[in-house]
Amino acid sequence: MKLGSALVALSTLTAGITYAAVVDRVLLMGVFRVSTTLGCPLGPSDLNQIGLGADSPDCRNFYANTTYESIDVLSWSQYCQLTLFNTLDCSEGGIVSGLGCWSPPGGIKGYKATCPWKVW
Ligand SMILES: *[C@@H]1O[C@H](CO)[C@@H](O)[C@H](O)[C@H]1NC(C)=O
Repeated sequence: MKLGSALVALSTLTAGITYAAVVDRVLLMGVFRVSTTLGCPLGPSDLNQIGLGADSPDCRNFYANTTYESIDVLSWSQYCQLTLFNTLDCSEGGIVSGLGCWSPPGGIKGYKATCPWKVW
């Protein structure tokens, strides 16, 4: 009886952890921080979390059209792509960002979060 309830408790705990990990991955396309300070490691920064359902071809800007100099991509879905632009209307070619901290030449005024390989 005691062993039985201990096992039930353990499997409930394991299920909870697995569920949390899945939710964590399923709900977010990715997380990145941006800083108006040039260089890495990132200076004072603002956090951006993009929901997995939020992919679109739209050009996105930051609050008050802030231009950021550096970005640290903390996580990003393998099915999706983060593209950074020097312009507010994403009119120039853009550059695809990988994970980690870097400073795209010309700064970041706009970005796109798309999922070219999505399976959902
Ligand atoms: C951001 O830039 C767009 C395009 O130039 C402009 O229409 C908009 O008013 C700007 N918003 C702010 C808060 O400056």
